[in-house]
Amino acid sequence: MRLWGGRFSSETDARTADFTRSVEVDRALALDDLAGSVAHVRGLGRAGLLDDAEVVGLVEGLDALRIDVESGALPWDPALEDVHMNLEAALGARIGPLAGKLHTGRSRNDQVATDLRLWTRRTIDDLDAAVLAMERALVALAEREGDAILPGMTHIQPAQPILLAHHLLAYVEMLERDRGRLVDCRRRANVSPLGSGALAGAGYQLDRESTARELGFDGVTANSLDAVSDRDFVAELLFAVTLGMLHLSRLAEEIAWWSNPRFGFVRAADSFTTGSSMMPNKRNPDPAELVRGRAARVVGSLAGFLALLKGLPLAYQRDLQEDKPPLFEACATFEASLGVMAGMVETLAVDRDAMRQAASEGFTTATAVADALVRRGVPFREAHHVVGRLVGAAEAAGLALTELGDGMIVAALAESRDSGVMGLAGDPTLPGELRAAATLDAALASCDVIGGTAPRRVAAALTAARARLDAAGR
Ligand code: ARG
Repeated sequence: MRLWGGRFSSETDARTADFTRSVEVDRALALDDLAGSVAHVRGLGRAGLLDDAEVVGLVEGLDALRIDVESGALPWDPALEDVHMNLEAALGARIGPLAGKLHTGRSRNDQVATDLRLWTRRTIDDLDAAVLAMERALVALAEREGDAILPGMTHIQPAQPILLAHHLLAYVEMLERDRGRLVDCRRRANVSPLGSGALAGAGYQLDRESTARELGFDGVTANSLDAVSDRDFVAELLFAVTLGMLHLSRLAEEIAWWSNPRFGFVRAADSFTTGSSMMPNKRNPDPAELVRGRAARVVGSLAGFLALLKGLPLAYQRDLQEDKPPLFEACATFEASLGVMAGMVETLAVDRDAMRQAASEGFTTATAVADALVRRGVPFREAHHVVGRLVGAAEAAGLALTELGDGMIVAALAESRDSGVMGLAGDPTLPGELRAAATLDAALASCDVIGGTAPRRVAAALTAARARLDAAGR
């Protein structure tokens, strides 16, 4: 039964078999394993280690297994340890002793490294598409609610008015960097370990480069010891996924707060909220909360995986089998989180009036008023003091900055020890100018730099994002 049983005189203890088995997890590699085997068989043929009929027989058998794996018909035998043994045994059951030639010049060590790189490559492509879909959802919401105004926050306190679209585009930037990390990781992962053998290199003249080309790899690994024990690509993908989850988690946190009626900025659709078993009034943004919660688990996957690598001597060690659960779980979690967050964002109802009202509280245009004074020649530090006094006066009087009377403004200027500022107190046009600068629209328009929240800048950024997403296809 055991494909490696020749030198053993007793059966494997059931506890050993249970403890070492990985087929429940690594069967996710089945299609990659079969693709790798087909390429390997063709390579053996080119190397003269298999004749044409043997190549055809093996490839046909592997193809038949692929169809069974795809349809779910292939039975998985837990007694056969892992995906590689299961598939080799299934091939033997189907085509007979010829299957015994499949493992020529190959070890499970270079095999699993190959499988995992193939898995990583196609998973990155899936994740990339899911990140793009999330970006599209954010851009669509930004287009739909293009002129909604939010109170921008620092320290969770009202700071300056911003466009909701600007806020959403901040997440698009994060996600676009996430895509960049995925692409970068894919590039380094996309080399073939096949032909490295168990650790020292295969003992046959295999043309590793042609086999690599057949599998769509960009090249071959340069060192057999590194090839069977390197899992940098797993660490890189886990990090890219973890950071992507953190980005989603930050957005999830904001959606949860914004949904609280005290904010009232957004309302998640019924289809993306859940109720309480006891409180009939409840409408909870659970998908967002779970994205936040699952981000924590993904952080744990990354941390656990890094710890796994830390003490491993060269070359392959069985510890490496533990690379798959954190990788598989983290990638599946990221993809599902992207899906549910995209749905939530697409269906989010925005209350522009509530947002605008909140943006006009907390004297969020004070910086714009100070900037207006600076444009009149006042040193910024002096302008900061003057406007600070105006904010204090407005707060005491229960007024907004746009409602300050001429007298209050003149008094705040006159209090200055700066003669230039005191001089401005006599300018009758200044109070009106400062009140105008204190409006939300003026404050927004004043942040007119690349990357700023001025509506024309945001419109340009949105157009650029839309064009980039359209060009990305898919
Ligand atoms: N299940 C193993 C893994 O995932 C496959 C390689 C096993 N190699 C070995 N020599 N036992 O790492």
